[in-house]
Amino acid sequence: MNPCLRAVVRTAHSKNVEVVGIREGFDGLLRGERMRLTARDVGGIIQRGGTILQTARSPEFRERKGRLRALRELNEAEIEGLVVIGGDGSMQGAFLLTEMGFPVVGVPASIDNDIWGTNMALGVDTALNTIMEAVDKLRDTASSHQRAFLIQTMGRNCGYLALMAGIICGAEVILIPERQTSLAEVAEAVEDAYARGKTHAIIIAAEGNSLAPQEVVDHLEGLEVGFKTRLTILGHIQRGGRPGAFDRLLATRMGVKAVESLLAGETSAMIGLDGREIATVPLSEVVSRQREANIEYFDMARMLAR
Ligand code: F6P
Repeated sequence: MNPCLRAVVRTAHSKNVEVVGIREGFDGLLRGERMRLTARDVGGIIQRGGTILQTARSPEFRERKGRLRALRELNEAEIEGLVVIGGDGSMQGAFLLTEMGFPVVGVPASIDNDIWGTNMALGVDTALNTIMEAVDKLRDTASSHQRAFLIQTMGRNCGYLALMAGIICGAEVILIPERQTSLAEVAEAVEDAYARGKTHAIIIAAEGNSLAPQEVVDHLEGLEVGFKTRLTILGHIQRGGRPGAFDRLLATRMGVKAVESLLAGETSAMIGLDGREIATVPLSEVVSRQREANIEYFDMARMLAR
């Protein structure tokens, strides 16, 4: 989010447009948490994870009354358009504001990659690299000690992170919400890996899949599948850290495009990555669907886990 904010501020200034940063998202907007942002204010943040503006969930903004107050705040501050950087909740909020006649352009930022209208959201690639590094390390222990590891990734209801992590880390089993897998199937795959002479088995499980992680571990331990099994929940480590090269570039391109779109008169759009191009998608379309994991990769990953 920081590289995107930097791009938004500096693009706007290059077009003689003033920028006001809203601290702590929609919640901060309701509390008048505004600050003028100069080009210098966004110096030294391109390499920092998270957001210097900070963020918060806002139950009040979900109510129409709250949004009306937000609109009043925006008008009082003479703000003419908003760039909203965030996940699906933020895009929903952005859309509802546009329905009240306020121009908003969204930029998708969520490690879950569950936002409709973009191939990649900001943060996904950096999170994947964090997961990859962690799994590579766990694998050293797994191989040396002949163990199975169940590693849980984030992703909310979307299996994207787990599926892609499973492919790039060479997992034996991938558990995602988009494809049901039974305890018996997991056990069979792990036992099979042992029987085929593998030194370890890696199970990557999306937090939204139907099997509880401890349940899987207990099941495998009870059956004696060859390997001892250990559990690692990666948790919030996936959400922080220096944005990688891909994310910095994507964030910059999206931030520039967000400002250009607002100034060109877009009133309700999200910036998306379409193939290799930066495009705009109507917010109404973004909020009416949810992006799921690319299921065709599931069978490919299974085939490659031989
Ligand atoms: O949406 C991003 C995400 O990190 C999800 O992957 C996860 O389920 C959730 O947020 C965690 O939220 P919190 O930080 O409130 O525990």
